[in-house]
Amino acid sequence: MPQRRIFVTSALPYANGAIHLGHLVEYIQTDIWVRFQRLQGHEVHYIGADDTHGTPVMLRAKDEGISPEALIDRVWREHKHDFDQFGVGFDHYYSTHSPENRTLCEEIYQQLQAQGLISQRAVEQYYDPVEGMFLPDRFIKGECPKCGAQDQYGDSCESCGATYSPTDLVNPRSTVSGATPVRKASEHHFFKLSDPRCEMFLRQFTQDPERLQIEAANKMQEWLGEVGAGKLSDWDISRDAPYFGFSIPGTQDQKFFYVWLDAPVGYFASFTHYVHTHKLPESLLKDFLRPGGNTEMIHFIGKDILYFHALFWPAMLEHAGFRTPSHIFAHGFLTVNGEKMSKSRGTFITARSYIEQGLNPEWLRYYYAAKLGPTMEDLDLNLEDFVARVNSDLVGKFINIASRCAGFIHKRFEGRLSATASSPILTQLQHAAIDIGKHYDAREYGKAIREIMSLADRANAHIDQIKPWALAKIAGQEALLHHSCSEAINIFRILTLYLKPVLPELAKAVENLLNIPALKWRDAAQTLPEGHQIKQYQHLMTRIEEQQIAALIQANQSNLQPSTAKVSKMTNPDIPVTNVPITDTATPTINIDDFNKIDLRVARIINAQHVTGADKLLQLTLDVGALGERQVFAGIKSAYDPAPLIGRLTVMVANLAPRKMKFGVSEGMVLAASGEEPGLYILTPDSGATPGMRIK
Ligand code: MSP
Ligand code: ZN
Repeated sequence: MPQRRIFVTSALPYANGAIHLGHLVEYIQTDIWVRFQRLQGHEVHYIGADDTHGTPVMLRAKDEGISPEALIDRVWREHKHDFDQFGVGFDHYYSTHSPENRTLCEEIYQQLQAQGLISQRAVEQYYDPVEGMFLPDRFIKGECPKCGAQDQYGDSCESCGATYSPTDLVNPRSTVSGATPVRKASEHHFFKLSDPRCEMFLRQFTQDPERLQIEAANKMQEWLGEVGAGKLSDWDISRDAPYFGFSIPGTQDQKFFYVWLDAPVGYFASFTHYVHTHKLPESLLKDFLRPGGNTEMIHFIGKDILYFHALFWPAMLEHAGFRTPSHIFAHGFLTVNGEKMSKSRGTFITARSYIEQGLNPEWLRYYYAAKLGPTMEDLDLNLEDFVARVNSDLVGKFINIASRCAGFIHKRFEGRLSATASSPILTQLQHAAIDIGKHYDAREYGKAIREIMSLADRANAHIDQIKPWALAKIAGQEALLHHSCSEAINIFRILTLYLKPVLPELAKAVENLLNIPALKWRDAAQTLPEGHQIKQYQHLMTRIEEQQIAALIQANQSNLQPSTAKVSKMTNPDIPVTNVPITDTATPTINIDDFNKIDLRVARIINAQHVTGADKLLQLTLDVGALGERQVFAGIKSAYDPAPLIGRLTVMVANLAPRKMKFGVSEGMVLAASGEEPGLYILTPDSGATPGMRIK
């Protein structure tokens, strides 16, 4: 096969948050592909960067009392560290806040302008008069215009699912200052996606069956509509000051490029900086960034950002004199234990916490690989299955081959291998290189792993038959022992090669054990020569312990209550929280019937809000499964903001007589713990509990 020249990217993570296991699906998927292509001998440049601009970064920096530059610097180091830990081997990791990116954005903008593809018109938007800034939809909250649910974002309702524009919200407020936003007009710059040239180009771009996955091509058809339907609208690419980003040329720092304009350009900026800092030939810039270079550019992304990558980005590039993507590969979203990652359940797991809990990153790489396919389907990290698969497949099947045989070579034969004759099992293994290679190339990692594990099964069955450990005890069987263990080592070497894109660190350890240079794909065809000396077997990988998973969940549980706190008080608003004397003297004993009178239930907080005029209370709406919804006033305002409570599971007394209060009827009570120290901690059941479950 001729050498491919490929520029590969993963989406640029936002610089306002930590890398979590959801992100890692993408970076691990990309990294495996890149490593596989390299093992094949192709030229691959894997490029990343932080996506640093926009309002959330600006506001977060302000909150922390630092400059946006200081914030993105810190986050860059954190992200880079996380990627290194998980073996995500970017050739270059840069930032969209860079001189290269500014220059490229200006060039693209000016080219589009010269093509007549930039227009300007006034847009009326919500403006925060206190902060003196226009508000992105996510920074406006109010009541849903459809169902009336409180505290909904400016673009969609989490309660009824309606989507709308922020100006439709009832009683809107700015989440930045709390002020009521006012409508204000300002001049915006647009990329004229509706221009027939863009539509024509995008139709042709979509038609190439290799370029997009079938689901993505269908989506594109839907977005493009019928020929002449004029479904594409112009794209608003400007934002008003104050904004953290690049100012648009000729606007006197009053208008900035919208973050999604400069973010994908960041792929090119990072590539440019890579070429310069690594002293690579300048010609790479032309070969990879301009049309006609006979190279490939491939974007790995999540399905949520397909719109930006498959419509705006290629249309922009095409008309600004740059090359367009060869492939866009979108993946689905990660769920944990079948549900959206959740802070309250402790399943919003950060990359950092995973490492800090001492879990091996290659366990996760293996599990993701085993579950990944080429589609946009979501994938589930089932934590029980994770433990089972890693322990039974990776350690129990694969590592097992070496741990059963390598020792004998070292102890009995001075580490030297015997000659290996070809055998049916070795031949089958060697031939599998073609199929497994096709699977990796097609992003069918699950299939690749299944095939590798079935080969490992076969190898283990073979070894079980020969029983080297039994041969070792029989005098006169040295030759057979030597031969079978040497064969097992050769099998192990080839399996290691097949797993190498997924498990680079483990492969390195095996290469060291076997005393061989870095394995390449074509090495599958060979075996180690007679007399080759291997090193002493050292443990290669441990099993996952159940407790490690429990600790991981616990480390990611937000608002975790200290385990020693006792449930000393209920958050009935009638009992002013701060004035209750707390004693640790035991209360009189009760019998089980007394206890059973209390109907304790798991409840999900589906809404939480302040109560006007009440300084201790929050109003909670609880989903209690079969018991329906309950409204409860809880005296926890001193300890909790309402927003982060939404979505959490907690515990309530469900059969407390309803009480009419000044603010409404309270239909139950939420439990919380407290001690001598100030602080109040509501309870959270262990993960797996669902609303309505009885606590007994
Ligand atoms: N900054 C943009 C991308 C700009 S690319 C020019 C962005 N950042 S992100 O941090 O929100 O996401 C980065 C990538 O991670 C995206 O491709 C996104 O789809 C992916 N994922 C984020 N959460 C995810 C899951 N829970 N599961 C799988 N992928 C997820 O979008
Ligand atoms: Zn609604």
